[in-house]
Amino acid sequence: MPAELTPPEFHKRYPSLGTGAVSTDMYWKPEIFAKEVEAIFRPSWHYLGRIEQIQRPGDFFVRELRTFGISVLVVRGEDNEIRAFFNACIHRGNKLQVRTVGRRRTFTCKFHGWRYALDGRVDHIPDKEGFPGIDCKNIKLKQLNTAIWQGFIFVNINDQPEQTLEEYLGSQGGDLVGYPFEKGVTQFKIETEVNCNWKFLLDSFTESYHIAQLHNRSINGPMAGPDNPFGRAVDVRIKGLHRSFGTRGNLNFKPEPVQQLALNYSPSLSLTAAGGEADHKPKGVNPTDSPDWCMDVNVFFPNLLCTIGGGTYFTHQVWPLSANKTHWELTGYLRPATNAAHRFGQEHALVELRDVVLEDLNILERIQKNIETGLIPEFHFHDHEIALRYQNYTVEHKISGTTNEIAKANQ
Ligand code: FES
Ligand SMILES: [Fe+2]
Repeated sequence: MPAELTPPEFHKRYPSLGTGAVSTDMYWKPEIFAKEVEAIFRPSWHYLGRIEQIQRPGDFFVRELRTFGISVLVVRGEDNEIRAFFNACIHRGNKLQVRTVGRRRTFTCKFHGWRYALDGRVDHIPDKEGFPGIDCKNIKLKQLNTAIWQGFIFVNINDQPEQTLEEYLGSQGGDLVGYPFEKGVTQFKIETEVNCNWKFLLDSFTESYHIAQLHNRSINGPMAGPDNPFGRAVDVRIKGLHRSFGTRGNLNFKPEPVQQLALNYSPSLSLTAAGGEADHKPKGVNPTDSPDWCMDVNVFFPNLLCTIGGGTYFTHQVWPLSANKTHWELTGYLRPATNAAHRFGQEHALVELRDVVLEDLNILERIQKNIETGLIPEFHFHDHEIALRYQNYTVEHKISGTTNEIAKANQ
C-alpha cells in the first residue's frame, strides 16, 4: 500500500470515542426513535431550500418536514423578505398551497376562500360580516422562524429556538463560508422512502471503506482503485456535533470512452473528477490540501449532509418516519449548462450517481431487516468509519441528556 494513504489512526485523534463494539439498539428500537425525534430533530434547524429558488416577490415553494408532518410554505414577499409559514389556513386548518412551486400575488384557501397576502396577513374573508369577532389586522398565517446562511434557507419549528442558525452550524458552517454555492442554480432532485433507520442513510455516505466491494462496478475505479484498495479516506474531522469526511479520487483512473467524453465536457460534476479543484477554496474544502482529494462530505447533525466537490455540490436530507423508515432526498446544484455537450456531460454524471446510490440503498434495507432480529447486537467500526461511531456517540448523549465532551473539545 502506498505510504501516502492516511493511516488508520483517527481513533488517536479522538481517544474518548474508543475502539470497541457499539450497540445496534439505536438503529431499530422504537422507544429510542421516539426520544430521537424529541431530543434531536425537534429542536434542530432544518434546511428548506436556496434563495435562488424564489428570486422575485411572490415566488414560493413548499417543503414537507416529514418527520413532524409539517408542510412549510416559503415565499418572498413584496418587501423582498423571505418568510416561512405553516402551510395551513387559519380558518379551519385546510392545507393552503398544494402546488409545490410557483408564483402568486396572494394565496387563497380552496375550502372557503380565505385569502392571504405574501406576508401572511389575512387579505380577504368571504362574507366577512359573519365573523363579528375577527379583526383581520390581528390574525395571520402561523409564521415560523427562518434564517439564511450562504443562501441556504433554514427553518426552526420552535417559537424560541435553542440556538441561532449560526450557532447551530458552528465552525463546520464557518469553514465553508465563501464557497460559490450561488453558482449551482440548476437543481435536480432524487427522493424516495427507504425501509431503514435514518442513521444508516447517513452512515453509508460517511465512509468509503465499502467502495471497493459494494461499488466495485461503479465508483471503485475513480474513487479507490488498486492504489487505495480499502477506500481509505483523506481525512475525518469532528466539529462540534457535526462531522466531515474527505474522500480520495484515483488520479490514475482510466475512464471508459463514453465516460471520458462526458468528463471532457463536465469535469466538475462527474464522479470521475478525481483531483478536481474547487474554484474557490474556503478552509473547510479539502482542508488537508490533498492532491488526490475528490470531495468532502459535511454532515450537519442530525440530518443534513452537504457534499462539496470540484465546482459542484449536493445536499442529502433524511427525514425519519419511524425507527425503520426514512424519507431521503438528494439534491444536486449544477452550474447552468453552456451548451449541449456540457448538458450531456452533466446527464451522464447524474446517471452514474443514480446507479451508485441505488447500490447503497439496496444494501441498507437488507441490513435493517437483519438488525431488527436482535441477533446482531453490536457493530464493529473500522478506524475510517469513525464518523459513524461519532454519530452513535452524539445520539446517545443527546437522548440521555448528558454532555458530549468530544463536541465541547472540538468546536
Ligand atoms: S379552511 Fe381555509 S377558508 Fe376555510
Ligand atoms: Fe456507497
